[in-house]
Amino acid sequence: MADSTKTATLSFGDTTIELPMYSPSAGPDVIDISKLYAQGGVFTHDPGFTSTSSCESTITFIDGGKGELLHRGYPIDQLAEKSHFLEVCYLLLYGELPTAAQLEDFEFRVTRHTMVHEQMGNFFRGFRRDAHPMAVMVGVVGAMSAFYHDSTDVNDPWQREVAAIRLIAKMPTIAAWAFKYTIGQPMVYPRNDLDYASNFLRMCFAVPAEDYEVDPILARAMDRIFTLHADHEQNASTSTVRLASSSGANPFACIAAGIACLWGPAHGGANQACLEMLREIGTVDRIPEFIARAKDKNDPFRLMGFGHRVYKNFDPRAKVMKKSADEVLELLGVENNPTLQVAKELEAQALADPYFAEKKLFPNVDFYSGIILEAMGFPTSMFTPIFAVSRTVGWVSQWKEMISDPTMKIGRPRQLYTGSTARDYVDVEDR
Ligand code: CMC
Repeated sequence: MADSTKTATLSFGDTTIELPMYSPSAGPDVIDISKLYAQGGVFTHDPGFTSTSSCESTITFIDGGKGELLHRGYPIDQLAEKSHFLEVCYLLLYGELPTAAQLEDFEFRVTRHTMVHEQMGNFFRGFRRDAHPMAVMVGVVGAMSAFYHDSTDVNDPWQREVAAIRLIAKMPTIAAWAFKYTIGQPMVYPRNDLDYASNFLRMCFAVPAEDYEVDPILARAMDRIFTLHADHEQNASTSTVRLASSSGANPFACIAAGIACLWGPAHGGANQACLEMLREIGTVDRIPEFIARAKDKNDPFRLMGFGHRVYKNFDPRAKVMKKSADEVLELLGVENNPTLQVAKELEAQALADPYFAEKKLFPNVDFYSGIILEAMGFPTSMFTPIFAVSRTVGWVSQWKEMISDPTMKIGRPRQLYTGSTARDYVDVEDR
């Protein structure tokens, strides 16, 4: 725990309370209100947690004003440029960049866990073919606790380690199989001689009748998408994983809860919603109409892929993603892709508009990712599952950090109750 070097004074009525304050290594000071109810008999109220730190963490830091994202101190643009996904996984999980030997060992461990229990195939086949792959992932990942009993004891550090590796290793297989199932093709088994991204692409696009040659540039772009989504401190799905885990629930159940939360369009579902929006706009001449709708208070429409709770400047991930979109589309010979043209023009018009400037709304990571994924051959329904594959390491790292903290408590928020006070039951004939 950071040292308390100063205090904040809170006064209400006749009560004055000194609250400890902590200075983090980066970011605003934090007032500790954990003893407030015991000392002052009041709660704080912060729906949506806009001003509340829910935990102490050393993993990821975001400076929303500067548009900075650091994993264990390393800027995301450097990691996206110079590192690769499994190295970033190691960094998030263990706190430091690995030596060559540590990386080799880690890659070996992940690669040797990529297969899923053979009986899990039957589980997939229980779903309707038209199920959304996210629905399948929520179910199958939750069901991992029924298949891997030897890594569900959260009090055993070794079992926690095995569960972490299993989740990171098997998630691409589960996402690829969910995809294969919905398109009626046979599931493709992982191949351990391929790197993480190439293996995922092959499991998605190979068929028994014809193998899939993985293009190294596409594999690099896929790896970069995984890297850019790997962790994002206490976002909604990560906080869901932490809250679910705080009861001592097993890791597979908790990660399934994270996947369920990620699915929503305000969170990971925004990449699918964004591409559908760009397609709906269709041509650049229709952009002003959609910008006008996004600004209209009486219209629930929002520009998907725009805005962020924390970033009040460019999302640094969006910058890398935009560059990657250009590279991938050029490689595939689709530079004149109409969706990319609409996206670029929409970004330019929105950024020049005072509404978006005043509210500090900038493109986020989801604005360009869908264009890359579509160009690679993924349907929109696979965009959020790919986000889930990437974010698994973030969820797992945050979960491991929380469980190994001896001061961990079950998460249990309080409320501002505005319902009826106690009243007597009335028999049905008297109502
Ligand atoms: N289009 C139009 N107006 C917007 C948008 C948008 N995309 N985002 C926010 N606003 C307006 C909003 O109407 C509000 O206006 P006012 O103050 O007049 O009521 C103001 O900006 C603040 O919005 P908010 O909803 O209070 O902000 P929030 O921090 O609760 O929401 C957000 C953040 C990401 C949910 C929101 O910006 C949004 O819905 N964006 C579109 C969905 C999206 O792209 N989500 C992906 C987020 S990044 C990937 C991830 O981490 O999952």
